[in-house]
Amino acid sequence: MTALSVSTSSAASLRADALVIGVAKGPKGPVPAAGSEAVAEAFDGKLAEVLATLGATGAEGEAVKLAAPAGLKAALVLAVGLGEGEAFGLEALRKAAGVAARTLAGAKKAALALPAASAEEIEAVALGGLLGSYSFGSYKSDAKAPVGELVVLTDRKGSKDAKAAVERATAVGEEINRARDLINTAPNDLTPKSFAAIAQAAGKEHGLKVEVLDEKALTKGGFGGLLGVGNGSANPPRLVKVAYTHPKAKATLAFIGKGITYDSGGISLKPAGHNETMKCDMSGAAAVFATVVAAKRLGLQVNVTAWLALAENMPSGTATRPGDVLRMYGGKTVEVLNTDAEGRLVLADAIVKAGEENPDVIVDVATLTGAMVLALGTRMFGVMANSDELRDRLHATAEAAGEQSWPMPLPVELRKGMVETTVADLANMGERMGGGLVAGLFLKEFVAEGIDWAHLDIAGPAFHEGAPYGYTPKGGTGSAVRTLLRFAEDTANAKG
Ligand code: BES
Ligand code: MN
Ligand code: ZN
Repeated sequence: MTALSVSTSSAASLRADALVIGVAKGPKGPVPAAGSEAVAEAFDGKLAEVLATLGATGAEGEAVKLAAPAGLKAALVLAVGLGEGEAFGLEALRKAAGVAARTLAGAKKAALALPAASAEEIEAVALGGLLGSYSFGSYKSDAKAPVGELVVLTDRKGSKDAKAAVERATAVGEEINRARDLINTAPNDLTPKSFAAIAQAAGKEHGLKVEVLDEKALTKGGFGGLLGVGNGSANPPRLVKVAYTHPKAKATLAFIGKGITYDSGGISLKPAGHNETMKCDMSGAAAVFATVVAAKRLGLQVNVTAWLALAENMPSGTATRPGDVLRMYGGKTVEVLNTDAEGRLVLADAIVKAGEENPDVIVDVATLTGAMVLALGTRMFGVMANSDELRDRLHATAEAAGEQSWPMPLPVELRKGMVETTVADLANMGERMGGGLVAGLFLKEFVAEGIDWAHLDIAGPAFHEGAPYGYTPKGGTGSAVRTLLRFAEDTANAKG
């Protein structure tokens, strides 16, 4: 794992394998950014010309290596693009630091001399660096080690907030990387049972209360959704509760994650081409798990309960059939018309269970529908809620945290399609058009009266199939962790 620290040493005197500077895209060519002064001096004031000669433009995603001239202790200068503009947003800093960290995989130590004048900027550089250093090598015999150490350089001398910013980035970045590891782990290694065991171990390590309901307890409790989805698999389902409480908390948040460790579709089997990445179907559970651990590490003054609804969706002689009726936790009946619409079934049980504790807000996170990917693409999650205010607040929270999302409606007329054509209280499918919203409306049926509830459909951004960019690696991304954590922080600060 990459170690993060902050230093007020001068960029010229710090011993490192590489010194990273930022370059903006100016109208007439590359413009070295704040933080690069010592490097510019070592280049006798000709840094911009040297960069231009090497073809650097300062565009986002760009990384250009230069041999360090005399006067610098580092061997290599790495210039990363910040994009256009004079004032760089935090996201541009995170991305640039991420590109640098990824480019420097294999190096022992790198210093980041990027714009880092405020605590917020320091945190952005540190977090981008830590997220960008991530790579998943568990199954590779020849995996390249990530950059060993990242030192964030700043001239905020003696400031406590600089250190706090890096500590915060460390906790958030490590937990996002933990979520990524869980998502990337092959589904023959990550089962509901092994995921639950990982949660128990983390609970012990960090002092969180973890309760696991196994298949026996789920049967006794009448969790028809989790059991109905899990009963086709040799790996039985689990419902895991991970609770962080603060003695002075004034609010309690329940975060529920879809944790389908593998989604084959069940009897309504997915065709080839649609199941190769379905180990990612537990990304919601990974996100809420990472969030509750991060909340504890940061000591937020709010209670956070993560619920992991874990099951494997497989076809077999014991699997749920299209046409079966399940009796869900809490008593509602659901006709399963398509066993591939399984996420809403496990989430429904968890929503009812979480609601019994009367949290102030419930937010569920799920790779729920292909329809949401068609609607919003692969970099944005959809936000739905039973209150417009909460929906808009989550959208704004995501934006502030550096995650892309969009508010989506829950049109009442789409409810009919799930209710009027079924023998049960509800079918697990309705109209095909607006499928992401139909799924949201299904979940809403299970939210207790008087509880604010929101639903994040992360089917698009949870798993990145293309080449890495910015601080986003191939594979699991850790989508929604920053949004949930920011939401918890804002709640803590508002009520504390
Ligand atoms: N896990 C899938 C949704 C998904 C699709 C996640 C693509 C990530 C990427 C979900 O369980 C599913 O299969 N949904 C169906 C629902 C349909 C049968 C009503 C879908 O979206 O096709
Ligand atoms: Mn499915
Ligand atoms: Zn699924």
